[in-house]
Amino acid sequence: MAQLRAVAGDITRRDVDAIVNAANTSLLGGGGVDGAIHRAAGPELLEACRKLHGCATGDAKATAGFRLPAKWVFHAVGPVWHGGGHNEDELLASCYRRCLELAREHAVRSIAFPAISTGVYSFPLERATKIAIQTVRAHIEDSGVERVEFVCFNSDALLVYERLLTAGS
Ligand code: APR
Repeated sequence: MAQLRAVAGDITRRDVDAIVNAANTSLLGGGGVDGAIHRAAGPELLEACRKLHGCATGDAKATAGFRLPAKWVFHAVGPVWHGGGHNEDELLASCYRRCLELAREHAVRSIAFPAISTGVYSFPLERATKIAIQTVRAHIEDSGVERVEFVCFNSDALLVYERLLTAGS
């Protein structure tokens, strides 16, 4: 049975096989967790991302982790929140599903997710957390992943993740 847990901290420091980036469609870096991952991975990451020629919203693409502790980075592009009537829920769920598909393809056993789309992209935190937990729970068995960390950069996110993981949401 795979283990899912919320942890506080910086995703670039997590000792897991793969970390997930909350990227944009260009895959050429940005602020937030995207900026932190590129800074920690080093310039080779941007070179590798250039070769991917972007990524659609709801999709995810893999690169090596370079100077990160993680062997892989799965660059997921979450939806920008526009009020909920633009398929945002499904596009966010798709990010988590695609990352677990990449995990299977790359024989990943441990993976760390940030709270995709809940920063600059303004997706409501509680709604995004429910989608994250439900989607991971629904697809984890097929992925071969044994350990999932939801890495929370602030206490608000940690409280929501811990509550919803306990509630079996
Ligand atoms: N480790 C873990 N989580 C982090 C870190 C970090 N080092 N830095 C930020 N976060 C958290 C934020 O607090 C938020 O909860 O990641 C979550 C996602 O926030 P953003 O990074 O703003 O990502 P998102 O809302 O998906 O917006 C993506 O922002 O940085 C740009 O290039 C990126 O255009 C894209 C957009």
